[in-house]
Amino acid sequence: MYEKMRESAAFLSRAFGGRIPSVALVLGSGLGPLADELKDPVTVPFGEVPHFCRSTAPDHAGRLVLGELSGKTVLCMQGRLHGYEGYTPAEVSYPIPVFKLLGIKTVILTNAAGGINLDFSVGDFMVIDDHINLTGKSPLTGPNDDRVGPRFNDMCHVYPKDLRDLADQAAKNCGLSLRHGVYVGVNGPQYETAAEIRMFRAMGGDAVGMSTVFESIAAAHCGLPVLAVSMITNMAAGVTGNALSDEEVKEMAAKGGEQFQTLMREIVALL
Ligand code: 6GU
Repeated sequence: MYEKMRESAAFLSRAFGGRIPSVALVLGSGLGPLADELKDPVTVPFGEVPHFCRSTAPDHAGRLVLGELSGKTVLCMQGRLHGYEGYTPAEVSYPIPVFKLLGIKTVILTNAAGGINLDFSVGDFMVIDDHINLTGKSPLTGPNDDRVGPRFNDMCHVYPKDLRDLADQAAKNCGLSLRHGVYVGVNGPQYETAAEIRMFRAMGGDAVGMSTVFESIAAAHCGLPVLAVSMITNMAAGVTGNALSDEEVKEMAAKGGEQFQTLMREIVALL
């Protein structure tokens, strides 16, 4: 696995002409337009990178874009892979240790999520303080390569406090408010039942989504600090009595996109 990761990283280093990104930004549903803002962009479709999988999800472009944002060289992943598409957890998180080999120091994961916490509103942003992985799976399943990370890795410091505080400062600078909470990661693709959401709330979950936890686990494994931010695109099942729809999620993600981009620009500036 490590050799494959090195081949992927070597290919990307060449494609980027020696420019070394310090931040990776994984862009969730509807949040992809941020990548179009990068200055001096270099775009590489996933399919061209050795050992990368192609994305099949609608509205997930499936490409890496290197460029300048807020004075830093960042690498955006526009379109990510999900477990519900049939990819293994290791396939979903594969780019993360490659980012580490590229010289990236911080990973920012973003997603669209459903609000479980009844104090939350649609359009809120939530910093992920911690997660509950309810997929029943791990990207670290199988033989461990000690060159990537340890067999049994700590999960108490996946989302370092200094990065979460930095996000608060960035939000303050932009006049935006920011929630904090626990992200519940599920496999999907179906949304939850109202009973499942009541259970997640009782367990201490604040938002629910179908991404992020595999990438966070892989980042913790290879020693990359993660800042993760959810956009609450809808309230989870049973909160409003309305049916959940992908259209609603997409529409809200697009609506909040501008504020989200403002926040991300400021976060990258402060890193
Ligand atoms: Cl309510 N559930 C899940 N699993 N993913 C979501 C969501 C809900 N809202 C946005 N993404």
